[in-house]
Amino acid sequence: MSALRVLVIDDEEDIRHMLTMLLRKEGYEVDSAEDGETALEILSDRDFDLALCDVRMPGLDGMQVLGRLEQRGDDTTVIAMSAFGDRELAIDALRRGAYDYIDKPFNKDEILLTLLKAQERLELKRENEELKQKSEADDFPEIIGQSDAIEDLLETIRKVAEYKSTVLITGESGTGKELVARALHRRSPRGDAPWVAVNCGAIPESLLESELFGHVKGAFTDAGADKAGLFEEADGGTLFLDEIGEMPMNLQVKLLRALQEGEIRRIGENTPREVDVRVLAASNQDLDEMVDAGEFREDLYYRLNVIQLHLPPLRERIDDLPLLVDHFIESRSEDLDAGVDGISSEAIDRMTQYRWPGNVRELQNCVERGVVLADGDTIDLEALPERIRDNDDPLDAIFHGDDLSIKKMSKALERVLIRRALEKTDGNRTHASDLLEISHRTLLYKMEDYGLEDVGKGD
Ligand SMILES: Nc1ncnc2c1ncn2[C@@H]1O[C@H](COP(=O)(O)OP(=O)(O)OP(=O)(O)O)[C@@H](O)[C@H]1O
Ligand SMILES: [Mg+2]
Repeated sequence: MSALRVLVIDDEEDIRHMLTMLLRKEGYEVDSAEDGETALEILSDRDFDLALCDVRMPGLDGMQVLGRLEQRGDDTTVIAMSAFGDRELAIDALRRGAYDYIDKPFNKDEILLTLLKAQERLELKRENEELKQKSEADDFPEIIGQSDAIEDLLETIRKVAEYKSTVLITGESGTGKELVARALHRRSPRGDAPWVAVNCGAIPESLLESELFGHVKGAFTDAGADKAGLFEEADGGTLFLDEIGEMPMNLQVKLLRALQEGEIRRIGENTPREVDVRVLAASNQDLDEMVDAGEFREDLYYRLNVIQLHLPPLRERIDDLPLLVDHFIESRSEDLDAGVDGISSEAIDRMTQYRWPGNVRELQNCVERGVVLADGDTIDLEALPERIRDNDDPLDAIFHGDDLSIKKMSKALERVLIRRALEKTDGNRTHASDLLEISHRTLLYKMEDYGLEDVGKGD
């Protein structure tokens, strides 16, 4: 531990001098102030570990200094000094937040002992804070990111994990919705109970109800035996309804009932069964819009949306990219036994410029590809997919660049659209102009202007 900084506050010069000498000799870093005002100024300028503060001073006295420090949330440890016999003042000081007090005239050993005690307490406090920070930083090791967006997200997860409230997780494809849902479950009091995930979009409509709620034998043609549904499987734990926007309307009604009543009915059975399930739902569609369009039930939407966790797209937290890349290099390289352990700064630059429509999943795949294709132990530009290496998409410049010129961006956008139309139609200008909704002549003119005459003709 480096030298502790102590501020001596006393109106008597002799005492300031004596304490300063004594404490410096003991290895403390010492400063002094002759009155309360000056002390407060110094303390707001610089951090001190300890302050020795006389209680009786002209102007702001020790009590007032303690009061101000508390007001502004300064937690410097203060040791009050009072004349022998001023017991009451000393006790008052303790009440106002002083850590300890010493009597004047001083006994050298007593001062040093009091300081040592205060120092021990400080060290303990620091250790506790470090431990706390460490455990908070490590409690979601699987979620990589230090952007404000991710920090806020983790903070919310910590808060909501312990409750049974339904959580709706939204965000574009590949932003980590399932990862977050699992983390939330693991961190909840149900962490050791079942985790059951179902992708509502991947199961045919006719089977989804029986998947979720189960059925009894003979309920329908293929129902050869009684079968419990996923709600029952998740009893006591968490059910993750992925792509909830894909759930058919008639099932939405049944889901809403299950959520409200806490009970479900197997198909073909009359008596309901009680289940204790926490539901997490995810969607990359805009459910709000679906409600407006009459494609998603409003009542269910509100029931699911008690708490919403929104995962921002990667391009909006691009600062996290280098961390994610390092993480994926390490894990992919180990899995594949590839011996790759770094990436060139050019490659990182180019990746930072890209828009990542597929978000973290796309990044993960891109890194895996890079690990496989890398020449040696470093991922270089050549190991990046062409779309990222030769990226000239003006939308990326719009998202990441500082250039706000509409004229310039429109031209860049026009050029890309024309190039794509020509590629798509193998250079057929009539079809391309149809796609672009411009006249054949305008197209010819612009192709010349943008130097695109040879696009789509093969080479
Ligand atoms: N912050 C992150 N840290 C580490 N890995 C992440 C992070 N976010 C996403 N991933 C990884 O990216 C991949 C995609 O994440 P996930 O499947 O959770 O996305 P999703 O939002 O559910 O996508 P979709 O909408 O396509 O289902 C996973 O392999 C996941 O582990
Ligand atoms: Mg998913």
